[in-house]
Amino acid sequence: MNGVFILHIWIRLWHWTNAALILLLSATGASLQYSSPGLPLIPFELAVRLHDLAGIGLISAYSVFVVGNIVSGNWWQYVPKPGSFWKKIRVQFMYYVRGIFRGEKSPYPPSVEANFNAMQQIIYWVIMYLVMPTVLDTGIVYLWPDLAPSDVFGLDGLFPVAILHYLAGRVIFLFMCAHIYLGTCGDKVSSHFKMMITGCHEH
Ligand code: HEM
Repeated sequence: MNGVFILHIWIRLWHWTNAALILLLSATGASLQYSSPGLPLIPFELAVRLHDLAGIGLISAYSVFVVGNIVSGNWWQYVPKPGSFWKKIRVQFMYYVRGIFRGEKSPYPPSVEANFNAMQQIIYWVIMYLVMPTVLDTGIVYLWPDLAPSDVFGLDGLFPVAILHYLAGRVIFLFMCAHIYLGTCGDKVSSHFKMMITGCHEH
């Protein structure tokens, strides 16, 4: 195989644990939010228990992600590299909406120095360092409601927590759908998924 090793085992283990937990949280979260008591997607008590357990699992996985990024130096992947950031985003975007359908080559394929293209960089940063902390912090307040203020602008203190938790969860779910689609946009449909399993990017 002609490839270059890019992803350490800890990132891959974190990634698939994180993905499995988020799938479970999305299914149980949707069940808690939408299913009617008479016709639950997942029985209510079970959905609550699984959601709480997976939430605690996600907090642990996220701690591994933050510490692992600092210790291994992988945080560097999230820092924009020299050259116009916005131009790189435009070039990457045009590749996704046009170039890819004309059989053009990816403008910025993954390498050891730059695993992410500029679009991935900004989107992963927003998801991992803004949206994930929001869903986790609001989830923690939900687990221990005494942490919530008693009221916010005259409303029950848990109300804004619920709205933020719901919105952040939705954003992560939508991100995951787009992320899986973009994952198919490698040299072959399977290339990026293989890389996320073996750690090697094939050229
Ligand atoms: C079943 C669900 C998922 C699948 C199939 C999947 C697939 C992939 C693939 C193929 C890659 C490598 C190519 C790329 O960088 O785009 C990747 C990387 C990544 N994914 Fe996912 N993913 C899933 C869920 C998630 C979720 C829920 C998150 C975050 C909330 C996430 C965050 C990331 C991050 C941060 C990377 C880059 C890791 C690194 O190189 O440091 N993924 N994913």
